[in-house]
Amino acid sequence: MDDMKERKINVSVLVSGGGTNLGAIIERQKSGFMPHVNPVAVISSKADAFALTRAKNAGIPAYTVVRKGASREDFEAGIEKILEVTKTELIVLAGFMCILSADFTSRWENRIINVHPSLIPSFCGEGYYGLRVHEAALEYGVKVTGATVHFVNEIPDGGKIIAQRAVYVKDGDTPEALQRRVMEEAEWIILPEAVEKVAAELARDDA
Ligand code: GAR
Repeated sequence: MDDMKERKINVSVLVSGGGTNLGAIIERQKSGFMPHVNPVAVISSKADAFALTRAKNAGIPAYTVVRKGASREDFEAGIEKILEVTKTELIVLAGFMCILSADFTSRWENRIINVHPSLIPSFCGEGYYGLRVHEAALEYGVKVTGATVHFVNEIPDGGKIIAQRAVYVKDGDTPEALQRRVMEEAEWIILPEAVEKVAAELARDDA
């Protein structure tokens, strides 16, 4: 009953750096835990991002659209072109350090997912990214932090929350140690789960 089989959703992952979250998605997908996900592209805003190597090693087409020195319009048009060619249906921001315009996000309503390394609404919004989030959490002195996966709208880190997972702050934590633990105990778990969940819902809506 092949025609009864749910279809896969074409997913593009946008990155800017090391790509450990991309790595987590690739691993989960390889292990068969993401049956509704077809990774069609990895798009990096930086030419030297290690995430590009991860994509190539996994056999996923890898593209670079450099943010630096480009206007936001040209940058987003470059991304849109790849999304079109690859027939992308769902976008995942996994360590993507650029803010997308309202024009862009409104064209992809409920079809862009982001992972943020704190429990939103704490330590989020413009200026809170990467290690800075963990520095801010430690400076404030919170005892619990974590990660959030959410839909992306025109408000930075302001879209509907899909999943969250808490992580305890330990005495003597450095921003780097906390970042690593939040990734291991939260991001790498909830991001692949959320991507599969949203892809499965899109596939079902289509059926
Ligand atoms: C991750 O902690 C991710 O949540 C964060 O940057 C890191 C990227 O790591 N993203 C943001 O701060 C976006 N606002 P990775 O490249 O190894 O996945």
